[in-house]
Amino acid sequence: MGKGENIVLIGFMGSGKSSVGQALSRRLQLPVLDSDDLITERAGMSISDIFQEKGESYFRLLERDIVKELSEREEPFILSSGGGLPLREENLAYLRRIGMIVYLSVGVDVLERRLAGDSKRPLLHQQGTVRESIIRILTEREPRYRNAADVVVLNEGKTFQELVDEILLLREAFRRGDR
Ligand code: S3P
Repeated sequence: MGKGENIVLIGFMGSGKSSVGQALSRRLQLPVLDSDDLITERAGMSISDIFQEKGESYFRLLERDIVKELSEREEPFILSSGGGLPLREENLAYLRRIGMIVYLSVGVDVLERRLAGDSKRPLLHQQGTVRESIIRILTEREPRYRNAADVVVLNEGKTFQELVDEILLLREAFRRGDR
């Protein structure tokens, strides 16, 4: 089946990309790769330290290099991508080459509950409260995530099993060209 199996998860911080990626990985018996983990490994630093010591633009360069490399990978995989990754045209072109792009959509209240105690995501702590940051950034990004996605899945009030079933059904339709 090769690359047609690949699933790319995009969405806001806290939308569940990592945990849904792991659930898909277990079901499909495919490896799950996480762009933030790959960046952290390569840089030998946490995401917060990269932002603080080298700046966001340096982080974005690492992110671009990683997604480019992943787009050349032959073996199938699931990709959990950092929240800002699909917002750059160049990165989006690489994601499209990788596989079906699934936007995990989550509303502000649920995001706030999930991100309340976060200390690992610098963008949530630059100005105002975490809720204010979520609203400000999500308002700007939501239409862009939707445009980037091949399919949109609401990730609120569903079990992992339900989500995985839904994504796999959508993948069937996507492969048939129904969408
Ligand atoms: C970011 C999301 C983070 C991480 C970095 C920037 C963003 O990843 O890449 O803090 O711009 O939304 P998660 O979406 O996995 O939290």
